[in-house]
Amino acid sequence: MYKDLLTLRDINAGELEELFELTAKLKSERGTFEGNTLKGKSIGMIFAKSSTRTRVSFEVGIHELGGHPMYLDQGRMQIGRGETVADTAHVLSRYIHGLVIRTYSQADVEELAREASFPVINALTDDYHPCQILADLFTIKEYSGTTKVKTVFMGDGASNIANSLMLGAKLSGMELVVASPKEYAPSAELLAECAPYASWCEDPVEAMRNADYVYTDVWVSMGFEEERARRMEILAPYQVNKALMGKANKNVKFLHCLPAHRGEEVAADVMDSDMSIVFDEAENRLHVQKAVMSMIYRNISK
Ligand code: CP
Ligand code: NVA
Repeated sequence: MYKDLLTLRDINAGELEELFELTAKLKSERGTFEGNTLKGKSIGMIFAKSSTRTRVSFEVGIHELGGHPMYLDQGRMQIGRGETVADTAHVLSRYIHGLVIRTYSQADVEELAREASFPVINALTDDYHPCQILADLFTIKEYSGTTKVKTVFMGDGASNIANSLMLGAKLSGMELVVASPKEYAPSAELLAECAPYASWCEDPVEAMRNADYVYTDVWVSMGFEEERARRMEILAPYQVNKALMGKANKNVKFLHCLPAHRGEEVAADVMDSDMSIVFDEAENRLHVQKAVMSMIYRNISK
């Protein structure tokens, strides 16, 4: 992880270990240890899609590292009126020191990172959500002491969360089974890239065998609203409910990137149960993103 965090391909296993050590320190010593990594730095934040956790945790995190978070309303920027991604990157490079961006196209984020002089952090695209999965892996490590556990991802196996979780499995040595219908299965390329850590299984019950963690995500991701009816129908057998959780290990824990839709991808009897660790997971977004920014800015100032 030198300049940008665009996918989890930008971080290696040694850096992940270092990131987790720093995250743990930032979490336990919040308010006293942050230092001034971002002192004097202005970090832009573009969110072309809705966000609660990502936007707030980045804004708070940038502030706590001594930087100035600047929310940039894409609809009010000229990029929303046709200014090119490259021109925007060149202009912003004259002002700001970093950009956190949530948008639709992964290719746009990669072009922006190529053209910009500042670090770019992917805060979710249609294809990937690396910051989320770093927080998830850290949460698993907090609970189990290791990431070498078995996690089942249930539902839309081609979503940004599933894609990044597969890369996260490869990065951390976690065993991941993605359980989904054929229509929403992970791509063959990504499965090949992440083998043997990540694999696909069509049968939700079989996938659950020996699972330590069960993870799900919304059935209708932002930008896919037109497919809602079809997704509700095809993904119904993959709802995470108490009966399905009963097929996993005894102390199985439930993860969800949130927002959750009770009665769709998860039943209230799981979401609101002791199995659920989703709010610890959400909190860890803040700590892990502060660690990501600390490592990026420490590296580039060398
Ligand atoms: N999990 C997540 O990224 O949440 P937001 O969409 O609220 O940022
Ligand atoms: N897959 C979801 C994740 C939300 C954090 C979406 O893209 O809407």
